[in-house]
Amino acid sequence: MYTRRHSIWPTLPPNVYLKRSTNWRPFPLDQTRCRIFSLARHAILNASKALHLGKGDVILVPAYHHGSEVEALMQAGLQVIYYEVNDELEPDSKELQTLLSPNVKALYIIHYLGFPQKASFWRQWCDERGLLLFEDAAQAFLAHHNGQPVGSFGHVGVFCLYKTYGIPDGGALISTIPPAAPQQNSGKGWWKVFKRHVNWIAARRGEIGAIHLLVKPIVSSFKRMTEHTHKEFEVGNPSTSPSTMTIRLLPKLLNKSTADRRRENYEFLLSHLGDMVPYPFSTLPEGACPFAFPVEVADAKEFLNRLHSRGVVGLLFWLNPHPSLLVADFPKSRDLREKMLALPVHQELTKADLKQIVKAVQECRIDSTARVATFS
Ligand SMILES: Cc1ncc(COP(=O)(O)O)c(C=O)c1O
Repeated sequence: MYTRRHSIWPTLPPNVYLKRSTNWRPFPLDQTRCRIFSLARHAILNASKALHLGKGDVILVPAYHHGSEVEALMQAGLQVIYYEVNDELEPDSKELQTLLSPNVKALYIIHYLGFPQKASFWRQWCDERGLLLFEDAAQAFLAHHNGQPVGSFGHVGVFCLYKTYGIPDGGALISTIPPAAPQQNSGKGWWKVFKRHVNWIAARRGEIGAIHLLVKPIVSSFKRMTEHTHKEFEVGNPSTSPSTMTIRLLPKLLNKSTADRRRENYEFLLSHLGDMVPYPFSTLPEGACPFAFPVEVADAKEFLNRLHSRGVVGLLFWLNPHPSLLVADFPKSRDLREKMLALPVHQELTKADLKQIVKAVQECRIDSTARVATFS
C-alpha cells in the first residue's frame, strides 16, 4: 500500500489553467498603495526605508520569529531589540514599556499561524507613544481582527501570498508611505509551479506520494550540506518582483471560500487532536485564517520523522531563530521552537486527507507513549 503525501504548503491543481480569473481582490490587493514583491522580506526592507527608518532607529521585535523578517529589518539599518511573547503569544505591555527609549521608533507584531493579534490595541498603544506599527501577516493573508483585515491596522502590513495559494512566490505590502514598485524580474517561476503540481498529484496518488516521500529528504539533506547555515534568512535582491506565473495564476486561485475551507479543516483536526494543541491555538477565534495546525510534542524532530513515514510532512515551527537572538534570555520562545510542530490545514485537503493526517498523528502518539514506557 503506497502512501499519499500531504505537506503544509497548498498544492496547485492541474486544471488551474482552465479556471477563469476572478475580479475579487482581498486586502491588501484591493488597495492602490499595495506593492507586490517576490518575498515578504523584500516588502519589509522596502517599507522600512520608505518610512525613513534606518541607522540609529530601534524596532521592538518578538523573540519568537522566523528570522528572515529580522534580517530584512537589520539590512534596512534598524537595530532590533527583542521582547518575549506572553501566553497569548502577544507582547506584554509592561515589558515593552521597560524597553522604550527615544531611539525606539516602531513595534513589530506577528499574526502567528493566521491567528490575529490584538492589532487595534497595539495600534493605539503605538499612537500614544509616537511609534510606528509593523503588522507581519506573512501567515495571515485573508485573516481579520474586529471585522477588519489584519495588516490594515499598522503603518505597515506584509503578507506571503504563496503561503495561502500554490503559487511560486509573492510578498504583498501595504504601507502608509508606499515604496517604488520592484524593478528586478524574478523569472517565470515554472520550476516552482511544477513542484506544486507534483505535490497535488502526490496528495492524490500513493505511488507518486511514496516516490516523493523517498526523494525529497535526500534532496533536502543535500541542500543542507551545500548551503550555509543561515541561508533561510537571506534577503537577496529586495527589488525583485513576483514571478510571471504568480501574476498569471493568482487571479485564478483567489477564492472567497479559502478562509472558510481552512477554518473547517482546522475545526476537523481540532475535534480529533484538540488535546495536543497548545494555547492559544486550541480554539479558533473569529477572523482567523489558519496557515497550519500546531501540535505540541515532547520530541518534535522525532515525531516529525515518524509522521513523514505515514505521508504527513509537518514543519518544525521555527526551530532556528535569527542568529542575533540570545536564545537563553527568551525561554518561552525557545520552548515554542522546540516543541511545536505544524501540520497541513490548507484548502486543497479533502476529508480523506484530513483523516489520514489524524490517523498518522494518533499512531505516532501511541508510538511515543510506547517508547517512553519501554525506556522508563
Ligand atoms: C512571520 C514571517 N515573517 C516574514 C517571513 C518572510 O517571508 P518570505 O519568505 O516571503 O520573505 C516569514 C517567512 O516564513 C515569516 O514566517
